[in-house]
Amino acid sequence: MPTNTESNAGISSVLHEQRVFKPGPEFSEGATIKSMDEYEKQYKIAADDPQKYWANVASQYHWFKKWDTVLEWNEPFSKWFVGGETNLCYNALDVHINTWRKNKAAIIWEGEPGDQRTLTYLQLHREVSKFANVLKRRGIQKGDRVAIYMGMTPELVIAVLACARIGAVHNVIFAGFSAHALTERINDSHAKMIVCADGTIRRGKSLNLKEVVDEALVDTPSIQNVIVYQRTKETIHMQDGRDHWWHDLMGLASEYCPAESLDSEHPLFILYTSGSTGKPKGILHSTGGYMTHVANSFKHVFDVKEQDIYWCTADIGWITGHSYMIYGPLINGSTIVVYEGAPNYPQWDRFWDIIQRHKVTIFYTAPTAIRAFIRAGDEWVTKHDLSSLRLLGTVGEPINPEAWMWYYKNVGKEKCPIVDTWWQTETGGIMISPLPGATPLKPGTATRPLPGILVDVVHKDGTPCQANEGGFLVVKHPWPSMLRTIYGDEERYKTTYWSEVDGMYFTGDGARKDNDGYIWIMGRVDDVVNISGHRLGTSEVESALVSHEAVAEAAVVSRPDEVKGNALVAFVTLKEEFEGNQKLREELRAHVAKEIGPIAKPDDVRWAAALPKTRSGKIMRRLLREMASSKEVKGDVTTLEDFTVLEKLREEEEESK
Ligand code: PRX
Repeated sequence: MPTNTESNAGISSVLHEQRVFKPGPEFSEGATIKSMDEYEKQYKIAADDPQKYWANVASQYHWFKKWDTVLEWNEPFSKWFVGGETNLCYNALDVHINTWRKNKAAIIWEGEPGDQRTLTYLQLHREVSKFANVLKRRGIQKGDRVAIYMGMTPELVIAVLACARIGAVHNVIFAGFSAHALTERINDSHAKMIVCADGTIRRGKSLNLKEVVDEALVDTPSIQNVIVYQRTKETIHMQDGRDHWWHDLMGLASEYCPAESLDSEHPLFILYTSGSTGKPKGILHSTGGYMTHVANSFKHVFDVKEQDIYWCTADIGWITGHSYMIYGPLINGSTIVVYEGAPNYPQWDRFWDIIQRHKVTIFYTAPTAIRAFIRAGDEWVTKHDLSSLRLLGTVGEPINPEAWMWYYKNVGKEKCPIVDTWWQTETGGIMISPLPGATPLKPGTATRPLPGILVDVVHKDGTPCQANEGGFLVVKHPWPSMLRTIYGDEERYKTTYWSEVDGMYFTGDGARKDNDGYIWIMGRVDDVVNISGHRLGTSEVESALVSHEAVAEAAVVSRPDEVKGNALVAFVTLKEEFEGNQKLREELRAHVAKEIGPIAKPDDVRWAAALPKTRSGKIMRRLLREMASSKEVKGDVTTLEDFTVLEKLREEEEESK
């Protein structure tokens, strides 16, 4: 975990963003929270009595049995809605099918080759019930772990909801992970079954997933059955007795499967996320609390209306796909778009084309995608009619103000608010975000915490930082969708999240609050660097670089320096029409000095054809740090999106010597 947390002395935030965008009256009028006054009032009510607030929120949803106690807090272990019983699948499907929503589209699916399917709530309910029966027939019982490894098809949603329906614990493993990663996750969670597809389609090519599963299962004693959904129809090996076709089993299954009444603390899912060191952490989420915050935050942050068509571009293999593609939207009865493939296939306007054709109204994506679109050129966006859009969102990393502005102007046509949502796999749901009808927006900040979420920016000793002083982002009070533990490793749970700042949940992020109480995320604390006694958020230097017209993307890391302690190294990807040379290098250094100050001037600027990223799109800073210090790259690199990127960086480094 974090390496630079001994003290926050000198974490300095030097990005000064002055632009403010107020919500338009036509937007505020229809929103659930219409003004900052209303927000402040709600925030205070929730902060004064969080248990009362959360009990009110929870009572919006269906409980088979009401809870006795809202919160049992035995630091750092929480139990929410103790004694209550509910079911997320019931809340996502059954509550809608006795209303007119039964014929409303739940899922609009588009495959990468262009094939399309729509499932109404009634149809989805039927498929999920059938698959829940399939799971039971294959020996899955309440509490058993089921690994899921498939591309983005409706069957992935069906498999997840079927688990939730019978109380099996789903463990979705992103379909880009290797056999080794799969084995590791299956064994850590002792999964009894894996649900997979024969293959998935990406950039026009079919990827054989079953082959990866076969390789992974050589060393997974807990797996008893494999269910294979046929997507690509490629030739695969089916092992007698172990492997079964989805369509064969579904053909025999009954449509009747009542949702189990589950204890509020019954485990819902495990989702693995990488720590900065060691093996991946199995983040464990449970039932009642997760449902309460995820469903309610979806409703308010996305200000969702009955007629909205909502599209979140995340993969279901990540937390965003769990909380804001499946559970949040479906519990609210929304229509979701699910897209199988790449954003740039067959060309760079695939996303805009999907928005235009399906009349998407709410669009939620990641800054890394936005930066890729900027690089591809505005013409891909401007040739499409995006007038159906009314709200935009981002998640996953700090968004550079320039990327925010591009998104606001080119995609939102200056009429759609942008909700920059800060949260983590561990938090389960959104923690800091604008409320679109209320919060004046500033490009680059997730703004204020949601009501009921008591976050703060503090010193190492837990005392609050002054306005504009950098510190650690913490959560001071348990919240319903917080992780319950790291699966099978309570000690790691305690040390990772609860030992850095006494009595508070430590997020691992550095942040500052401005004079308006807006929270500016400065990146992970281990990405904060100390230069000549000044600490800088590397993301701020990156923002400065990206605001230069030549720069498409930048990653800034530190390397040891005898005189300054650390020196800054910037890896820069240029827009196509620019060429990396000494003159531009000097220009960029001067640009950063102008934007932030001479202390932030990168010592080295290195050109990179592309930056090495994890499959979820995060820049692999550890690798870059090792490159910057010219050390051999060590450790687990299985999450590299493109291994050639690393090679290219190495070659470029050799050439520049
Ligand atoms: O550093 C923060 C960054 O992503 C981390 C959480 O990553 P993960 O668990 O993969 O979840 C991503 C999707 C919720 C955080 O510790 N992060 C996430 N959202 C933002 C962000 N940084 C800045 N602004 C955000 N909106």
